[in-house]
Amino acid sequence: MAKGKLVRVGIIGLGAIGPAHIRGYQACENAEIVAVCDIRKDLAEHWAKKLKADAYTSYLELLKREDIDAVSVCTPHHTHAPITIAAAVHGKHVLVEKPMATSLMEADEMIRACREAGVKLGVIFQSRFLEGPRRVKEAIDSGKLGNIVLAGAVVKWFRSDLEYYHRDAWARCWRGLWATEGGGALINQAIHTIDLLQWFVGPVEHLYGLYGTYTHNIDVEDVAVAALKFKNGALGIIEGTVSMPKEHQVTKISILGSKGLIELSGTEITIWSLEEEKEVKEEKPQEETLKVKPTGHMLQIRDFVNAIIEDREPLVNGEEGRKALEIITAIYLSSRTGRPVKFPVEPLW
Ligand SMILES: NC(=O)c1ccc[n+]([C@@H]2O[C@H](COP(=O)([O-])OP(=O)(O)OC[C@H]3O[C@@H](n4cnc5c(N)ncnc54)[C@H](O)[C@@H]3O)[C@@H](O)[C@H]2O)c1
Repeated sequence: MAKGKLVRVGIIGLGAIGPAHIRGYQACENAEIVAVCDIRKDLAEHWAKKLKADAYTSYLELLKREDIDAVSVCTPHHTHAPITIAAAVHGKHVLVEKPMATSLMEADEMIRACREAGVKLGVIFQSRFLEGPRRVKEAIDSGKLGNIVLAGAVVKWFRSDLEYYHRDAWARCWRGLWATEGGGALINQAIHTIDLLQWFVGPVEHLYGLYGTYTHNIDVEDVAVAALKFKNGALGIIEGTVSMPKEHQVTKISILGSKGLIELSGTEITIWSLEEEKEVKEEKPQEETLKVKPTGHMLQIRDFVNAIIEDREPLVNGEEGRKALEIITAIYLSSRTGRPVKFPVEPLW
């Protein structure tokens, strides 16, 4: 697509996260939302009116429109693969929400379909675009920490049975079920932090995983742990839960190297130099000159739109988006079989 062109977009799925995509494209001067789709007609009509776009209740009807270049897929997990593959067949670029699929097999079909159709596939992992994680990645890649020896990811959140899993008929249609959500605390909530962990430390060699359902009336896991060995020799640990008391929720990544320690807690970074035995003060990032600080979704959507215009891969393409899913699949597999799982994980399901 030539520079200066407008990317015309359709948004599929207008529940909790759809509006974040809408705001992302609205903040992009070279994108225009021309159509929206949700199986809930009222939602589709509401957003169509607001955006002066066309409303659809069938994504296949939306995909038939020749003037649409790209779609955002913001629907439940089990629908990501069929919608993405149909979009690719119709020649549309796709930006799909995390997790890209509920199985590695589906993820591979999505990557293949997009490659064969010559369209871009982007997978939302918006944290990779934020200042904090980018600075951690730079610090590690520049060798500031030396050799990584221990890397931990903690995602202890709260999700309520009544207000989340069983909030209404729509939520009960897909949340808390293996067939539709594809898992629980790991595949839905901890996946962002697991993606950052592997982005920082690199590929996993093998892992041991355990999960269970303890405090919710759901099929999928609400608590999970894993012990990992990375290809670079570092050891790792993952803790994920949605059973934490609301007031004590925590998201944290801690990476220990031979020369230092770096911790990312929310947006706060602490770097400790073992050689100097002191906290190393990082230069304060440049003050934002914009009135509204762009969200991770805004930054990632801008990258996706620019990738289409510049005919390059999005920063988080299908292969990148698949990596966290592979780790999560391995944890489920290890827990079910009681055995360690070696990478690459065979995409059986
Ligand atoms: N990146 C993030 O931080 C983040 C945050 C929340 C949700 N998500 C992801 O976004 C996706 C959607 O989650 P949500 O919380 O918005 O769910 P939701 O249930 O609130 O919304 C999903 C919407 O999709 C619609 N839908 C279902 N099947 C459809 C179909 N076949 N065609 C068109 N519309 C359909 C539903 O009617 C609903 O309005 C999930 O993959 C979730 O993991 C990502």
